[in-house]
Formats: sequence, structure tokens, C-alpha cells
Amino acid sequence: EEEERQQMREALNLASQLYHHVLIHTEYGTAAREYLKQREVSSDTIEEFQLGFAPPSYQFLLQILKRRGFQEELLEKAGLIATRDSPSQKKYFDRFRGRIMFPIHDSQGRIIGFGGRIIGEGQPKYLNSPETPFFHKGNHLFNLHRARNQIRKEQQAIVFEGYMDAITAWQSGIRNVIATLGTSFTDDQARVVKRNASTVVICYDADSAGQSAALRGLEILSNHDCTVKVAQMPIGMDPDDYIRRHGGTAFKEEIVAASLSLTAFKLESLKKDYNLRDEDERMKYLAKAIDVISGLPLAIEQDHYMRRLAEEFQLSLEAIKEEQRKRRSRKR
Ligand code: GTP
Ligand code: MN
Ligand code: MN
Ligand code: MN
Ligand code: MN
Repeated sequence: EEEERQQMREALNLASQLYHHVLIHTEYGTAAREYLKQREVSSDTIEEFQLGFAPPSYQFLLQILKRRGFQEELLEKAGLIATRDSPSQKKYFDRFRGRIMFPIHDSQGRIIGFGGRIIGEGQPKYLNSPETPFFHKGNHLFNLHRARNQIRKEQQAIVFEGYMDAITAWQSGIRNVIATLGTSFTDDQARVVKRNASTVVICYDADSAGQSAALRGLEILSNHDCTVKVAQMPIGMDPDDYIRRHGGTAFKEEIVAASLSLTAFKLESLKKDYNLRDEDERMKYLAKAIDVISGLPLAIEQDHYMRRLAEEFQLSLEAIKEEQRKRRSRKR
């Protein structure tokens, strides 16, 4: 049992070394190297993240690891090799083919699995390791083992949706960065983050999938007593695009520094349902906004957002509070 786990770890490490070697030193890696270059991933970054390339072969990893004495069943269990039942026999083949490989580590820095990106267009864009005895995508966070010290130092973690977002941020010098593994934030991940930082900044893509995932993440992290903020990306950009275009400093100063509290984010999201230039709709938005604010636990918090609302819509604070009273008594 323990021996088996040890062998699986060895296989994962070897696979990572082989994929990395193929990317750096072989002709099979040429297109992948070009692709990474075009995305402005530096050689230092390729080294630091031990990025690799799985050649488009069904037998590459399987052959080498079998020759080194690893059993097919073990490699399958480690998530490196897949199987198909043919009429006569079970067929084993490489899970990752023709993909840029991102090793994924646990919090102690041991490789537990991989994400693999297709070069250019194609489906699925990313293929991850399946669930294995090591790899549970809801428990782990990409880059946590590298970022942990900086997260502790700053008492702040920035969470992205994508590996590439974390890698580009890291390359630009922002080092308190982690990414979820293609799922939305889970309770387990919240617990891990909470142990290392008092504040979490969720920085997901500006598309609707990213925004609803951000909202779910916010709720989960809030339940874990974290101060949570949400960064707003310009439409059509993800953090990787933004940092490459504007740099890490701008990302920190314009995006992270301007991130919204849970309440401000809810109010902003709510706004998107109304045409605020229309007077009737504006009033409907204000009524809903007042309900959101009335749900806040602290009176001082309520006061703060009521004032902001009054200022934003050039209304008196008295009028807003009067409306709040009315709506409360109506609900009773
Ligand atoms: P790039 O196009 O390489 O910049 O990817 P991205 O990081 O911007 O990816 P995207 O915003 O489309 O998705 C965010 C994350 O969701 C990725 O990093 C993956 O972890 C995951 N993901 C994206 N596409 C797929 C997919 O087709 N299958 C799976 N399983 N996960 C995916
Ligand atoms: Mn190397
Ligand atoms: Mn997306
Ligand atoms: Mn993205
Ligand atoms: Mn992207």
C-alpha cells in the first residue's frame, strides 16, 4: 500500500521530467515552445513551473515507464495512463497526448497530477488528471506551494480561474497568486486559504461563467470568516491578457486595489439587471439595493452602503433610510 503510493509518486515525477525534457530538448517540442513564446512565457518561467509537452503519441509515456519497471495498473491509478476495453484485451495508452503539461503539486510541493493544454484551438482545451489517490481537484490549489510564503507575508491571496493567469502573474512579479483547478471554489480550498491569509481577492474572468463562479466563491469564503474581495476585469479580458498588456504593477494598482467587497460586488451585479437611465428601472434597482444592504449584519456596514448609494444616485440619506423603514415594515 505505502509502497504503491511511493511508486505512483515516482511515476508522476518521472513523467514530469520526461514531458519537460521533450519540451526543452527535442524536436517534438518545437510547436509547443513556439506557442509558449507567442504567449510570452519566458524560459525562466518554463523552468520554474517545470512546464512540459506530451507528444501526440499513444505509447510515449507508457513505453518508457514500462521499460523502467512500472506496472500498467499502477500508471492508470496515478492518472497517467488510460484504458479501453477491446473485445480481446484491455488496452492501455497515454492519457495526455499533444498537450502542454502543467505539473500540479500539493501544498508540500509533491507532484499529484497534471493539467494539459491543447496547442491552439480544440476540445477539450484543458485536460486534467482524473481523480486519483493523490489528486482531488476540489482540495488543491495550483501554485500554492510556491506562493504560500508570500501569501502569509502579505496576508492576502489572489485566486484565479486559470493556470495561465497564475503563471503570468508570477512571471510579472506578483507572487501571492494561486488558481483553482477548473472548478469553482470549495470548502476545502477555503479552509486552506484561510490558514494562510486573512484576505482573499477573487479575480475571475469577466465572462458570465467567471462572474457566477466568483459569486459562489465569495459566499463560500465568507462562510469561512475570510475577508473576501472581488476584482473586476475589463470585459473580454482575463488576468493573463491584462497583465501581458498592462503589466503587473498596473494589475496591482488598478485591478487588485480596486477590488470590491462582497456587498459592493452584489450591488454591481444587481445593476446589470436594470437600465439605470430609465427612471422606473432606476427606482426598482434602488429598492433591491436597499434590500441587499438591509440584509447586512452590522448597522455600521448598513450605514456605509446607504451613504454610498445616496451619493451615487444623488439622493438624501434620509430618503434612503425612510425607504428602508417602509420596506421593512411592509415585509413584517
Ligand atoms: P487559456 O486559453 O490557455 O488562456 O486558458 P484560460 O486559463 O484563460 O482558461 P479559461 O478561462 O477558458 O478556463 C479557466 C480554467 O478552467 C482553466 O485554467 C482550466 O483549469 C479550466 N478549463 C478550461 N477549459 C477546460 C476544459 O475544456 N476542460 C476542463 N476540464 N477544464 C477546463
Ligand atoms: Mn529544465
Ligand atoms: Mn473563462
Ligand atoms: Mn481565462
Ligand atoms: Mn486565458
